[in-house]
Amino acid sequence: MKPKTTSVFILGFLCLVFYCFCAADRFYKHGNHEWTKLFMVHHWPTTVCKEIENDCRDPPDYWTIHGLWPDKAGECNRSWHFNLDEIKDLLPDMKHFWPDVIHPSPNRSQFWKHEWEKHGTCAAQLDALNSQKKYFGKCLEFYKAIDLNGVLQKLNIEPSVSYYQIADIKNALASIYGVIPKIQCLPPEQEEDIQTLGQIEFCFSKDLHLRNCTEPEVPPFLKDALLADETSMSHGLSLCEDGPVFYPPPEKTYR
Ligand SMILES: *[C@@H]1O[C@H](CO)[C@@H](O)[C@H](O)[C@H]1NC(C)=O
Ligand SMILES: *[C@@H]1O[C@H](CO)[C@@H](O)[C@H](O)[C@H]1NC(C)=O
Ligand SMILES: *[C@@H]1O[C@H](CO)[C@@H](O)[C@H](O)[C@H]1NC(C)=O
Repeated sequence: MKPKTTSVFILGFLCLVFYCFCAADRFYKHGNHEWTKLFMVHHWPTTVCKEIENDCRDPPDYWTIHGLWPDKAGECNRSWHFNLDEIKDLLPDMKHFWPDVIHPSPNRSQFWKHEWEKHGTCAAQLDALNSQKKYFGKCLEFYKAIDLNGVLQKLNIEPSVSYYQIADIKNALASIYGVIPKIQCLPPEQEEDIQTLGQIEFCFSKDLHLRNCTEPEVPPFLKDALLADETSMSHGLSLCEDGPVFYPPPEKTYR
């Protein structure tokens, strides 16, 4: 081929690749609301506060709920609005176990509204989760059954100024639950610093049984796009690296 033909050809090919990538990405992110597993996400309030650099007052000193997330779907029904009335029976538990760590005003329900609209409307494909009461109720039920706070304590994994190894935490949890959790960290700000433990997620199959979080579900070239989407509410968190991790003791006031 002549050089000119070659470059036109390459350009055309690149456009095609780009087009396919965008189409596939859109398909996974928006078009297709199919999902295969749920993440039951716990977060460590002290890390949440550190991540936001917000002035959280007295964050809870126990793991709280972030949400119950289908793995690859979001905002599945924009006309299904959050309605606090539907979960009023759950409010005492919601306030204790699922507080808005960053905006701790007792009457704020923005966080729950976000979780419902982004994740709950997708989880609602399952009969067991097809109302707000069922969605939030089931998540509270999972939280209590998993009892992460009690289990970590029994394993002697407690907030500490000395570091843990990610593999030790993961293996200890896997030995108790029989499944591999997903652990998210706040990466170090500087290279010589240590990552900070942020989220512990347990995965459930569509029949609501615990399962491993590990199996790859999507083509690898889409993983990054999807992960970015999935964790967009989690600000700076990402999958923990193997190696040491800081599990920060609660502080009274973060500045
Ligand atoms: C979306 O939610 C509304 C309100 O609950 C409901 O009437 C409608 O059937 C839902 N749409 C779909 C596609 O599920
Ligand atoms: C919070 O809600 C309760 C009950 O709905 C109400 O009595 C109280 O005044 C509210 N507090 C604030 C700060 O809005
Ligand atoms: C989870 O992963 C572990 C280690 O790869 C494997 O031994 C186990 O069978 C898996 N469990 C399930 C339920 O798939």
